[in-house]
Amino acid sequence: MEIKKICVLGAGQMGSGIAQICAEAGYEVTMRDVEQRFIDNGMNNIKKNLARALEKGKITKETMEATLARIKPVLDMKEAAADADVVVEAVLEVMELKKQIFKELENIVLDHCLFFTNTSGLSITEMAAATNRPDRFIGTHFFSPVPVMKLLEIIKGYETSDETLEIAKTWGEKIGKEIIIVNEAPAFAVNRLLCVMLNEAFYALAEGVAGAEDIDKGMRLGCNHPIGPLALSDAVGLDTLLNIMEGLQRELGDKYRPAPLLRKLVRAGRYGKKTGRGVYDYEKK
Ligand code: CAA
Repeated sequence: MEIKKICVLGAGQMGSGIAQICAEAGYEVTMRDVEQRFIDNGMNNIKKNLARALEKGKITKETMEATLARIKPVLDMKEAAADADVVVEAVLEVMELKKQIFKELENIVLDHCLFFTNTSGLSITEMAAATNRPDRFIGTHFFSPVPVMKLLEIIKGYETSDETLEIAKTWGEKIGKEIIIVNEAPAFAVNRLLCVMLNEAFYALAEGVAGAEDIDKGMRLGCNHPIGPLALSDAVGLDTLLNIMEGLQRELGDKYRPAPLLRKLVRAGRYGKKTGRGVYDYEKK
């Protein structure tokens, strides 16, 4: 099957990034969210990224305009998904919400339409089993910022067909990503390791091993990480990190217990950069 039209559900940080790179690769894209302000934010994000690339001479004005013309922002689910070859779901990390959206989609999409889900660690098999097409369902986990990060983690659910996997791989390569194939496991391959390190940084901070800036500086300069673990947690979102750690703990045991300080910051509404405050205070800067 050749993919021509792509529907991206969710115009947030991940959804808008996915819509952008799909349009850049030449696909016709609809980007759907539930409120006009979310769609506007998503489109602004894409425009900002393209304008930056134009300024740096990486793309021409024509390319920028053609890319934007390939993205149709919409509110209506039917309009977004009815003639799509693939739906890439990138809504909130809530299993019941994702299942409910896929159920709604079943009555809208073409029979050949594939379901891709961008999740940080939720079970692909469980989501797929709630649909009428578990063979045509697969996990496609992108990394933030989507236009910059090279990796696409493709996760096979229990019933995912080899054909679906092959189509997802070809698509991933066409949108410019390097691919790793992962069998479903809690938090997959990358977050299984990454989030444990981020969580450990909260234990270290709470125990007074070092201050936040020194923990981050240590990992940047001592291990060549582009950004320290606490700053990266703020960028990912502390609520998202807590969510992933809770999933790991539930599935794999107390070795993965979320750091109490991480939980406390989330309870205080300090979700990181997106709320202006997390480990660090972005309102002051
Ligand atoms: N959106 C789009 N492009 C962006 C961007 C954004 N938010 N932020 C930076 N960029 C681009 C810049 O335009 C620049 O592009 P060019 O090279 O084409 O000029 C490039 O990224 C480098 O940017 P800067 O020089 O301004 O900044 P930097 O050197 O600090 O790099 C970074 C920024 C690439 C994001 C770097 O900080 C980094 O690699 N951070 C770690 C990112 C990471 O680990 N992501 C994974 C998070 S985990 C996840 O996503 C999985 C999950 O499920 C939780």
